[in-house]
Amino acid sequence: MYDFRPDLALEPAERYRQLCDAADALTSGELDSVANMANIAALIWEFVPDLNWAGFYRTCSGNDGTKELVLGPFVGRPACIRIAFGKGVCGTAAQTGQTQLVEDVHAFPGHIACDAASRSELVVPVVRDGATIAVIDLDSPNPARFTSQDAEGMEALASLLAPRI
Ligand code: SME
Repeated sequence: MYDFRPDLALEPAERYRQLCDAADALTSGELDSVANMANIAALIWEFVPDLNWAGFYRTCSGNDGTKELVLGPFVGRPACIRIAFGKGVCGTAAQTGQTQLVEDVHAFPGHIACDAASRSELVVPVVRDGATIAVIDLDSPNPARFTSQDAEGMEALASLLAPRI
């Protein structure tokens, strides 16, 4: 049995260090990327409070050969399946390779609403060999839920996962 118990009273930086340690332990030596993404989505759900969606979109080739994102393992309500690079918060993170921290999703041009409850969003690209291979998407029902500490913590997690998903 895995029993990772985050102390939600910890400072965010320490909580993200513990999340990365737990993610390292859970994925170390496991080559199946779906299993690793599924466990990490569940772990994020345990360690990061006030979320209504946490999970992965993976880069793949669309019917016309252009790059797009396809839904991966997640925790939350059913979500849109395919997102073109450059579209929405996830597609913007994938295309630019830059973290997107959105305090108010309604103010983000082209935001794709998968759950009407979402108010703020953090999307971190997972980059391997210079290419975005996936993004990690966190949604919150709280406005301006995410800070630069969340972004830094999730970027550290994305670096750890890049060779493992
Ligand atoms: N809001 C995202 C779409 C994915 S869902 O939030 C799970 C976007 O604008 O790309």
